[in-house]
Amino acid sequence: MELNEKEQALLEGKHGRGLKKAMEILMALGRIYGAKDMVAVTSAQIAGVSYKNIGDPGLEFLTDWANQDARVHIPAFMNPAGIDRQLWRQLGFPEAFAQKQIEIIEVLKRMGVRATLTCTPYHIGIVPQKGEHIAWSESSAVSYANSVLGARTNREGGPSALAAALCGRTPRFGLHLRENRLATHRVLVKCKLESSADFGLLGYLVGKKVGNGIPFFQGIDLPENESERTTGLKALGAAMAASGAIALYHIENLTPEAVAYGERIVKPNATTIEITSSDNANKPSSTNYPITKSPNNLVMSLDEARTALNHEGNQIDLVTLGCPHASLDELKEIAKIIGNHRLKKPLWIASSAIVREQARASGIIEIIEKTGGRVLADTCMVVAPLEEMGIKYIATNSAKAATYLPAHQAAIVHFGTTEQCIQAAIEGHF
Ligand code: F3S
Repeated sequence: MELNEKEQALLEGKHGRGLKKAMEILMALGRIYGAKDMVAVTSAQIAGVSYKNIGDPGLEFLTDWANQDARVHIPAFMNPAGIDRQLWRQLGFPEAFAQKQIEIIEVLKRMGVRATLTCTPYHIGIVPQKGEHIAWSESSAVSYANSVLGARTNREGGPSALAAALCGRTPRFGLHLRENRLATHRVLVKCKLESSADFGLLGYLVGKKVGNGIPFFQGIDLPENESERTTGLKALGAAMAASGAIALYHIENLTPEAVAYGERIVKPNATTIEITSSDNANKPSSTNYPITKSPNNLVMSLDEARTALNHEGNQIDLVTLGCPHASLDELKEIAKIIGNHRLKKPLWIASSAIVREQARASGIIEIIEKTGGRVLADTCMVVAPLEEMGIKYIATNSAKAATYLPAHQAAIVHFGTTEQCIQAAIEGHF
């Protein structure tokens, strides 16, 4: 790989052992993926923060690295951890787990990583521009940054994002290169997406089919309200990254690269997928795209995804919203839906500490807490130790969470809209 003088010096250890190790990680990645050189990155989002995910080996690895005088050189911030730093005692999180988690956060802070502890950094003012090269690692954040913002990042692992933060660069391959950002699949959406849960169902289906390809969506009726649109796009990207490994999508006439390049963003040999609302596909399309008769086209329905994400029964221990982390507008909407009902089952809404403070200042937290609900910061239902806490039956409006919870928490999951989930918390069953 071609290195400039500074990169060579980093590799030779002239800036310390910690940065040498970081550069070695980046070099190894670059060699594997055939990068010709490095590209400067302007920010790094570091996943692999939860003690549930990285355990003692991860903590030791980070401590060892921090002890080699490794300090970040660009703005770097943390993905959610396994606890809410303010509420963990109140909510009954295990003490031993919490102490280990705090150690991980402290080590990363020592390296200069900001304890934002969120997967939606764009809700707290961290908004990369179109064409900006970054090194982010949480899959839904990666998807949002690439697709909606038009920034350029591969789906980094925790160590490679940290290495990029330390060196301020990453090997130039994959989605850093324009030619690798073309759509491999055309997805014709022939049904109306009524809620953010429907965006999640669409994402679940497309992720399953497209794997690590790049979909180009046509026919999506997007909400006019900007905040609802953002929530839908977040849900779509998060689900595609969970059921598949999609790190970038385009939407006709909406996402920056689709707007800039139009049809040229789609590869000539792209596969076509059609999405309908129900299995019999009889519902009239709200779009201008007629059902294609081609035998090569694959037709899938949102109902398939709904069935796949829902377990039988109606028992719930917990209702959880906020995957990806909720924005202030989402919290407002949730407060409006709950009204002054009294909840029979716990309702946890995941967000960032900054958004929670904004919500507190505008009286939303008080409204939610009066009903028995809680807004959690710094953590989420997938990376918190829910299984250890005896929580098994979980309702969620997130297709990403519904995809991960059975494997990560041995949970029995119910998936529904935000309204259905809140109703379940009010009634005590799904
Ligand atoms: Fe974020 Fe946790 Fe969901 S990290 S995207 S809330 S699984």
